[in-house]
Order: sequence, then C-alpha cells, then structure tokens
Amino acid sequence: MEPGRFDLQGKVALVTGASRGIGAEAALTLAGAGADLCLASRDRAGLERVAARIEAMGRRALVRPIDLARTGEIPAMVEGAVRELGRLDILVNNAGTNIRRPALEVTEADWDRVVTLNLKAAFFCAQAAGRVMLGQGSGKVINIVSLAVRHGLPNLAVYTAAKAGLAGLTRVLAVEWAPHGVQVNAIGPGYLRTELTEPLFAQPGWLERALGRIPAGRTGVPADLAGLLLFLASPASDYVTGQVIFVDGGWTAM
Ligand SMILES: NC(=O)c1ccc[n+]([C@@H]2O[C@H](COP(=O)([O-])OP(=O)(O)OC[C@H]3O[C@@H](n4cnc5c(N)ncnc54)[C@H](OP(=O)(O)O)[C@@H]3O)[C@@H](O)[C@H]2O)c1
Repeated sequence: MEPGRFDLQGKVALVTGASRGIGAEAALTLAGAGADLCLASRDRAGLERVAARIEAMGRRALVRPIDLARTGEIPAMVEGAVRELGRLDILVNNAGTNIRRPALEVTEADWDRVVTLNLKAAFFCAQAAGRVMLGQGSGKVINIVSLAVRHGLPNLAVYTAAKAGLAGLTRVLAVEWAPHGVQVNAIGPGYLRTELTEPLFAQPGWLERALGRIPAGRTGVPADLAGLLLFLASPASDYVTGQVIFVDGGWTAM
C-alpha cells in the first residue's frame, strides 16, 4: 500500500475536547499528518496553546470555545468551521466527563451532566458533521468510547450508559452513512494518564492493581492512540466502518 494513504494534506478535522489530554494529542497527531484543525472545548486559553503548536507545524488552527452541553450551539460551531476552513473531513468526538459513584447514589443531575456531554453532544456533533460529509461524499467520524462499553465496571453506571450508547450510535451511523462514503468508528482507550483519570492514579494501591490486569505491564498515555487515530482518519481505513477498536495494552483480551 502507498504510504500516502495515511496523508491528511488538504483535509480539515474538528476535535472536541481539544484543550488537553487525549483531544489535544489527537489534534497534534492529525496536524502532524497534514490536516488543518478546528479545536473545540470551553477553555479558550487551553485551545490557544494547542493551536499555537499546530500553527508552528505550518497548519491552520481555528479555536472554537464552546460548552458542548449547550447542544443547540453545535450546528453553528460546525458551520463556522466549514465556512472558515473550507470543508470538514474528520470529526473526533472526544469531549467527555465522568462521575464515579455507586449506582444507588447517582442523582438525576449526574445523569444529565454525563449523558448530555458524552452521548447527546457527541450525537449532535456527528449529525452536524454528517450533513457536511454526506454532501461531500466522504468523511470520517471517530468516537472516543471506553473499556466500559465491553465490561461492567463498578461506580460507572452513568458513564457506561453514555459510552455504550455512543458505541451503538457508531454502528448505526456507520450503516446509514456507508453508502455515502462516510466511515464511523470508535476507539476504546484503556487507562491513559490524563486529568480525567488522575483521581484513579492518585488512589493508594490503584496503579498496582491496574498493572496486574494490563498484559503490556504499563498504563497508557494519549500518544498511544496516535497510530489507530491516524489510520481511522485517513483513506487507509476507507473499508473499515462501524468498529469499536480498543487500545488498552491487552486489557480487554485478558
Ligand atoms: N483517560 C483515559 O484513560 C480514558 C479512557 C477511556 C476513555 N476516555 C475518554 O477520552 C475522552 C477524553 O478524555 P481525557 O482523558 O483526555 O479527559 P480530560 O483530560 O479531562 O479532557 C476532557 C476534554 O473534554 C473537554 N470538555 C469537558 N467538558 C466539556 C464541555 N461541557 N464542553 C466542551 N468540552 C468539554 C475538556 O475541555 P474544557 O475543560 O476546556 O471544556 C477537555 O478538553 C473522554 O471522552 C473520555 O471519556 C479517556
């Protein structure tokens, strides 16, 4: 296969939750392969730091501060990105949050917060991007899910409901949009050290227990997703759709 199949020159990507962690790393990976970026999250300063690094690579970076829980604002964000950057080829649906709590203690406010961002906002980002991509006859949607879509993990009822919903949506959108040249896939990261997982890493004994379950013998970092992300964002994956692929050092295999 031509190495050029992984080239993203001339493509435009939108990454949600791009101010830090997995989203920031994903944006830098896509820019490194040649894409121009639209970066979305609430934190303008964080987005601007990532944008400066992308511009230093010679790519364009548009900063879009937005609270994605205000889902009514999503179509205008996507339309603005297309207006300013000319097209939209890749959506990385990454923005997410978590509340760790036993199921009996979950409140309606917890449910609304996690499901609105992790599932509802992700759907409406995909819908707005899908409108553009189906019109173009090509596009890639990459949803960031979790080990929780495969395993029942305690204290993660709401997060699991939302991420499992997003895994299901990945399949439905893949099937609806495959005839129009748009592929929809999901990445399920294992335990990667970021602000989101810092409370776990900080728990005494947690890391030792986690390492006992990870055949690779280490936890991950956001850069561990780069290879799969690039594959799913590029023409190399044009015949791959509706899949949830785990990047977890072997956790789900054990
Ligand atoms: N780290 C892991 O081990 C792991 C494992 C499995 C899945 N994941 C998933 O990977 C994704 C990224 O996680 P991460 O570890 O990189 O977490 P993180 O460091 O906490 O980053 C979360 C990102 O989401 C953005 N965000 C949060 N609430 C938002 C809102 N209301 N509107 C817009 N943006 C919002 C944050 O930006 P602002 O604060 O600037 O808005 C930030 O950029 C999440 O979907 C998470 O569930 C992570």
